[in-house]
Amino acid sequence: MQKILILGAKGMLGSELTKLYRQLQANNPEDYQVFAWDIDEVDVRDFKKLTNKVQAVWPDVIYNAVAYNAVDSCEEDDEEYAKAKVLNIDLPKKLAEIANNLGSTFVHYSSDYVFDGKRPRYKNGQRAPYCCGHGCDGCQYEGREETISCWQYAEDDQPNPLNRYGYTKWRGEEAVEEVSGDYYLIRLSKLFGGDSKNNLAKKSFFEVMWELGLKHFSVKAVDGELSKFTYAPDLARASREIVENREPNGIYHLANEGVATWFEGVETLYSLLNLKTKIIPVGPEEFPRPAQRPAVSVLQNRKRPPLRPYQEALREWIENKKMN
Ligand SMILES: NC(=O)c1ccc[n+]([C@@H]2O[C@H](COP(=O)([O-])OP(=O)(O)OC[C@H]3O[C@@H](n4cnc5c(N)ncnc54)[C@H](OP(=O)(O)O)[C@@H]3O)[C@@H](O)[C@H]2O)c1
Repeated sequence: MQKILILGAKGMLGSELTKLYRQLQANNPEDYQVFAWDIDEVDVRDFKKLTNKVQAVWPDVIYNAVAYNAVDSCEEDDEEYAKAKVLNIDLPKKLAEIANNLGSTFVHYSSDYVFDGKRPRYKNGQRAPYCCGHGCDGCQYEGREETISCWQYAEDDQPNPLNRYGYTKWRGEEAVEEVSGDYYLIRLSKLFGGDSKNNLAKKSFFEVMWELGLKHFSVKAVDGELSKFTYAPDLARASREIVENREPNGIYHLANEGVATWFEGVETLYSLLNLKTKIIPVGPEEFPRPAQRPAVSVLQNRKRPPLRPYQEALREWIENKKMN
């Protein structure tokens, strides 16, 4: 019998982890017992209560899908930044310690925003003088003059966040690594999915753009911030595989294959939906925000089989949404 504890169970990722494990529990009631907690069960900032509750369960695996994700609020507001530090730094540190004391596996999630997007790159197939040394041969990203291999970040690349949110996520990673128990740190980018039946799950970018596309003749989307989309159900399944296979502890990059700007993501969405809404590509300056984002933060997965292309995942998500 494996006891699985999921924190942040109503969030976009947490709801998919919960769905996955509840299904496993339903199929194999002897093998799994699932504890899915969100703020109603425990406010995780109350470390004493949290510790007692987790100790009482004594889980084999703790998934921490709680985070402070309001990137812009914490950039401009010191009180919000203090909240971000508690949830993104102190909490994972505490959970890593609890897990270590109980002999549990700890899974924590982080972000592409730990990187600055300023990695030296190849241009026209020529190595930049400051080559990243990953042995990439200048991948061909169709339609772009530049090649982008060197813009991809490997698991062991040095973080250098551009904003406060990214800084808290990086410090949270370091805190978990310092405890050095049985841990997995999984970085992802541009999360979408979530349980559409769960009204509490936040709307993802694609959900928002779908709604806008139905209401307007044209929409604007930033043709920048090149990275990978991550489908929450695929991430949940891959996270479980890592744990069940007892893969080596450390940092993993799990995002769906295919690099895209926000604009390109909307193009794919509308083409799959057969929506004729005009999409106007704009620069990031069109939507000024307090927190600077990396221009390119492509997570390179060098440890695991790739997740399927995001276009396939997006098709599945659309089909599921239409059925609900
Ligand atoms: N979303 C993205 O695009 C993205 C990109 C890169 C990395 N990530 C990382 O991926 C992970 C999952 O993100 P997500 O988008 O699934 O997060 P999310 O949807 O915001 O879910 C977080 C969950 O934690 C709950 N929570 C917040 N404060 C709590 C507290 N004090 N006590 C108990 N529960 C609390 C939230 O409840 P409320 O909703 O009521 O606050 C929410 O249900 C995070 O580590 C995040 O940093 C996300």
